[in-house]
Amino acid sequence: MLTQVQRLKRLQLDVSPQSAFHAGQFAHPRLPVVVGKIRNQSGFDTILPCCLDMLIKLPRGEIRLPSPYATHTAVNDLLEQILAFEQQLLGDDWEDYHLYLTVDCRSVPAGHTQRNPGWHFDGMQGVRYPKKLPICHQYVVSNSIPTEYAGAPLDAGGLDERKDNWFEVLGGMLPEDGLRELGQPYRIEAMSAYQLHRASVAEETAQRMFMRLDFSLKQQDRLGNTRNPLLAAPWVFVGRTSLGASLPTETGFNRSGRYGA
Ligand SMILES: [Fe+2]
Repeated sequence: MLTQVQRLKRLQLDVSPQSAFHAGQFAHPRLPVVVGKIRNQSGFDTILPCCLDMLIKLPRGEIRLPSPYATHTAVNDLLEQILAFEQQLLGDDWEDYHLYLTVDCRSVPAGHTQRNPGWHFDGMQGVRYPKKLPICHQYVVSNSIPTEYAGAPLDAGGLDERKDNWFEVLGGMLPEDGLRELGQPYRIEAMSAYQLHRASVAEETAQRMFMRLDFSLKQQDRLGNTRNPLLAAPWVFVGRTSLGASLPTETGFNRSGRYGA
């Protein structure tokens, strides 16, 4: 098992602004870093409308959180803890990133996952980014049915982003007895775009609140992402109907829909 110090060191190396996405990085073991715990847990459980990869900050811009998220104590608590951690992680370089908020709040029936199943990572760059960017990183938290992480080293060297579905191939390489970890309810966990993870199956029906904050240099311009009434995205939202629609190119998407956790 990796210590918190080892995990933090790996995350720092992964997200270094000097280091662009590189398949060779999957060869390092990694697990998420614990950032903190939601302080007002009953507040976190409060029903909120869902939003998907909603832009809340542009590079070097202010955070613009629309209602009802702006007055939600748990969202503010989450942001406060994450931004303090970001300062530690990246210093002022965190300001260069877009921030995207996802809130997914619904009842998950026993035997199902809240979000689409399958091992994946958030932040595939794919053929849209022939010149690779420094990678995305994410913070996730949920009140039940925790996300599962796999941290075993993987050989992604032979994968072709024009032909291979990296999520399926890398997921298939994971050893059953490899490095694995389940998240914990209300615990804020930080991971990089090299961190494989998947949604867990609900053992019993539960109301699940899931929140994710994605720090990314990419323009998340997928049609279907939630628009922020306080912050217009300076790009056109587009569908993915052309070549490559079956390959994961965004936060997590393939022909069967979005992967999630
Ligand atoms: Fe994910």
